[in-house]
Amino acid sequence: MNGSKRDLAIRVEDIAKVYRLGVKDEMHDTFGKTVMSFLRKPLKNLKKYKSLYQFDDIDMDSSGGADRDDILWALRGVSFEVRQGEVVGIIGTNGAGKSTLLKILSRITPPSRGEIMIRGRVSSLLEVGTGFHPELTGRENVYLNGTILGMRKAEIDRKFDEIVEFSGVETFLDTPVKRYSSGMRVRLAFAVAAHLEPEILIVDEVLAVGDVAFQRKCMNKMQEVGSQGRTVLFVSHSMPAITRMCERVILLDRGQVAADGEPHQVVSEYIRGSRESAAEKRWEDLSAAPGGKVVRLRALRLKTEDQRTTDAFDIRRPIGVEIEIEVLEDGHVILPTFSVWNSEGINVCVAVDVDPAWRKRARPPGRYVCTGWIPGNFLAEGAFTLNTTLWLQEPVRNQEYHVTDVLAFHVIDSLEGDSARGDYVGDLPGVTRPLLKWETVYYEEGREVSRIGRAAI
Ligand SMILES: Nc1ncnc2c1ncn2[C@@H]1O[C@H](COP(=O)(O)OP(=O)(O)O)[C@@H](O)[C@H]1O
Ligand SMILES: [Mg+2]
Repeated sequence: MNGSKRDLAIRVEDIAKVYRLGVKDEMHDTFGKTVMSFLRKPLKNLKKYKSLYQFDDIDMDSSGGADRDDILWALRGVSFEVRQGEVVGIIGTNGAGKSTLLKILSRITPPSRGEIMIRGRVSSLLEVGTGFHPELTGRENVYLNGTILGMRKAEIDRKFDEIVEFSGVETFLDTPVKRYSSGMRVRLAFAVAAHLEPEILIVDEVLAVGDVAFQRKCMNKMQEVGSQGRTVLFVSHSMPAITRMCERVILLDRGQVAADGEPHQVVSEYIRGSRESAAEKRWEDLSAAPGGKVVRLRALRLKTEDQRTTDAFDIRRPIGVEIEIEVLEDGHVILPTFSVWNSEGINVCVAVDVDPAWRKRARPPGRYVCTGWIPGNFLAEGAFTLNTTLWLQEPVRNQEYHVTDVLAFHVIDSLEGDSARGDYVGDLPGVTRPLLKWETVYYEEGREVSRIGRAAI
């Protein structure tokens, strides 16, 4: 056997995944019928899984299908190898293809082209509590899952207490899973997946659902699995978790591998990288743009202080929200506004244009580019979307346009200890994350010895 290939766990060769727009992929949307984890029998040798060509009318081998607008390339030309015992993080903006890649590696969906080779039992946790039967109790589901995953009853018996203890759902063990909260389901699902002693553990972002203490427990568990020489692949938006846990990070951008290597390097490339589709929206045809006879929305853009368009922001830096409008009718006081929403659907803030130059003043016809700056150290890390509304203030109050989810962006935490997280490396909840001023008064035996920070407020 070729020595250099001996410890290869995964090989992905030039895979592509194509979705036909408007046609739902059956495999994906019937997750309820699929189990959340798949346990594979150990393979004696590297075994090839060749995909079926599902899209015979698309020329997969050239860029022939590239400009067709009825198909979407969720993944394209993705190749990499993972060695046994590597802990690999997968990052990228929403829609980059991360979940699709994990689904292919878990064999929940086949690639449209290319092949994957996997050596070892794979256990994966891809979506929240999908492997559970709602009418069965937690206990019954643990056994059901274990059996589906190829475990013998004695094996499950042996692991049962550990699984239950890890999940923390003891008191609900004999309650039907349909009464569980999504957090409880994730706890149990992760516990089952992680305690199977898989050779390869694959975990999507599902852990974001659980509480912070549980997330940390899961991170530790994954780290433990990795340190035992088993392979771990996981997707996370938490850059501190990624850099803390992984020895290698793969960055996906619009279905392609944009970077693959040392975690800090890849993460900073992600922070720097610009991806215009979610960070900018432009309406070329003004007559079809949002708005009415007074104002039309020409464009929206997210930018850094140095005017670079991007959808990934360093948590410490300001985020410029640029609203470009065309005023068509004279005599109106107008109010551009935008609102920021986090991934839990919480409206984090609403911003109204308060530029003194145009406050209470009618804007003559012409093009205006209005930028509101969200300060650095204000939003928490995570994914956000942007809505924008334009109000006519005078002579009559009226809404010219209201556009929702028009832009999307990520706020990524700093790794240098100078953000609001300081030296804390775990997960931090919260809608905002201001960098506070702190002061300390130190008493030694009741006597004030030092007071640091007060002058800085
Ligand atoms: N079942 C599906 N049918 C059609 N398009 C899909 C399906 N699943 C994912 N996509 C599309 O594929 C792209 C990649 O999605 P996904 O892998 O979920 O990205 P990520 O996990 O990185 O956010 C997206 O544009 C998404 O809309
Ligand atoms: Mg995903």
